[in-house]
Amino acid sequence: MDYAIEISDLEKTYHKKNHSSSKVALKSINLKIKKGSFFGLLGPNGAGKSTIINILAGLVKKTSGKVKIGGIDIDENQQATKFKIGIVPQELIIDPFFNVYETLEIYAGYFGIKKALRRTDEIIEALGLKDKSKATPRSLSGGMRRRLLVAKALVHNPEILVLDEPTAGVDVELRNQLWNYVKKLNNNGTTILLTTHYLEEAEQLCDQIAVIDKGQLIANDSKENLMKVLSNKEIIITSGANVSANLFTKIPEINIKNLTANKISITFDPAKIHVEKILEEVYNSKIQITDIVTQQPDLEEIFKHLIAKT
Ligand SMILES: Nc1ncnc2c1ncn2[C@@H]1O[C@H](COP(=O)(O)OP(=O)(O)OP(=O)(O)O)[C@@H](O)[C@H]1O
Ligand SMILES: [Mg+2]
Repeated sequence: MDYAIEISDLEKTYHKKNHSSSKVALKSINLKIKKGSFFGLLGPNGAGKSTIINILAGLVKKTSGKVKIGGIDIDENQQATKFKIGIVPQELIIDPFFNVYETLEIYAGYFGIKKALRRTDEIIEALGLKDKSKATPRSLSGGMRRRLLVAKALVHNPEILVLDEPTAGVDVELRNQLWNYVKKLNNNGTTILLTTHYLEEAEQLCDQIAVIDKGQLIANDSKENLMKVLSNKEIIITSGANVSANLFTKIPEINIKNLTANKISITFDPAKIHVEKILEEVYNSKIQITDIVTQQPDLEEIFKHLIAKT
């Protein structure tokens, strides 16, 4: 199997300069990201996502473990790995002296890309920066700066694109524009590693998802499998009169509780019991029904469920 990124037993402890305190940010992380995948790395604030990404970028020094980018060990040849990966950092740090066009040209030069092979105009166009190409970063709005950071990560046409919260503070239009472009890159074979707090974004875009919490990996699976973690469905029945959860205790496969005096929730695993059986029971109970709603968990709920377990 070809992997874009291979992380084994990765650990990171941050130390204060005077060693007065230390913070364990990553505990033995093992993560393999297949070439060509659209991989989502999710987790609450402080989980360790940016630490992983900054280690990949060579901005943070790992404490121990192994990291390979495009098959190259960062301890053996960090410089070579930089050509394979483009990183959009979470922090909005931009060199203030050059305008948008110049910034991208300087970056392309840094990677040794010949003038004829540069894609500066294409990237500027793709990220909606055309009318800002002569603007200095200082005059750009936050969302525009984010676009410039994405543009910078793309100048050397990397095989792997890593986006650390690329849509934080970005308006809906750019989000759509950015995702369309990133999807196109992914369709053309670029591996994408994304962190985001917008779970519906991850649900829509990613094919693989890992969840990290307090420096530990707590899930790592295909989106489909992860969505199955909570395969339970819920039926909520509202009655015109008071209704008791005790009515249905006969069926062991269902979990039933009163939400209010006249509202009950029935949760069940569709693999274990057919919805028809439940409805039959509801019908036989002769309760007066005014409304029935069914629900299924989305990624947001699965995420909360996983985090709650740790
Ligand atoms: N330079 C640093 N020095 C000391 N501690 C740090 C440093 N950078 C990060 N940390 C700590 O390491 C832990 C992981 O931080 P990290 O930035 O990787 O989290 P994150 O998952 O990216 O969070 P967020 O969603 O808020 O971006 C946090 O407890 C953070 O305070
Ligand atoms: Mg972060």
